[in-house]
Amino acid sequence: AKVAVFISGRGSNMAALLYASFHADSPYELCLVASNDTDAEGLKLAEAEGIATYALSHKGMARSDHDAAMETAAREAGAEYIVLAGYMRILTEGFVSSWEGRMLNIHPSLLPKYPGLDTHARAIEAGDSHGGASVHLVTAELDAGEVLGALPVAIRPGETADSLAERVRFAEHQLYPKILADYVSRDGDADFLLGKVRNLAL
Ligand code: GRF
Repeated sequence: AKVAVFISGRGSNMAALLYASFHADSPYELCLVASNDTDAEGLKLAEAEGIATYALSHKGMARSDHDAAMETAAREAGAEYIVLAGYMRILTEGFVSSWEGRMLNIHPSLLPKYPGLDTHARAIEAGDSHGGASVHLVTAELDAGEVLGALPVAIRPGETADSLAERVRFAEHQLYPKILADYVSRDGDADFLLGKVRNLAL
């Protein structure tokens, strides 16, 4: 399956997805890495690895026009799935509905806990035993689509938001390629995966 990855910055999850796709038995390949930030670090890595890239700053553009340009780039690259990996833009409803069931996101918390920003600080503040990461389908409501998979990460004594964020990223790099591979192998059948979400009675 052909996958377009949308990033806004470092792109470490994109890198994990990319290198996992180099396994001979990977059921997906990256056909495009696209960004709303022309300076995004991840674009350079994708280029070096021979992956097509597309960059268009959203500044001074209507949200719907920017989304439309990203959509055209993804379609022209032949994308069957869109994978958001640190893409810091909220997409229009039209965009989301045209990729329903075919667009995934990774979020740095154990959803449904802590949608939105500052997830690690909120988990530490609440005294939670674990933070973590979740891969979910993208729906119109922010971070609220079906969770396809999640990994918990223990919160240590003296943990800071930064130290937790770093370890959650390690977990994300394991989680995202695995869930994406499973999902596209089942041709977007969420029911199969939903039965496999680790039971998180934390
Ligand atoms: C990740 O922690 C992801 O959960 C969040 O943004 C971060 C992106 O990091 N949505 P990177 O650009 O993949 O390194």
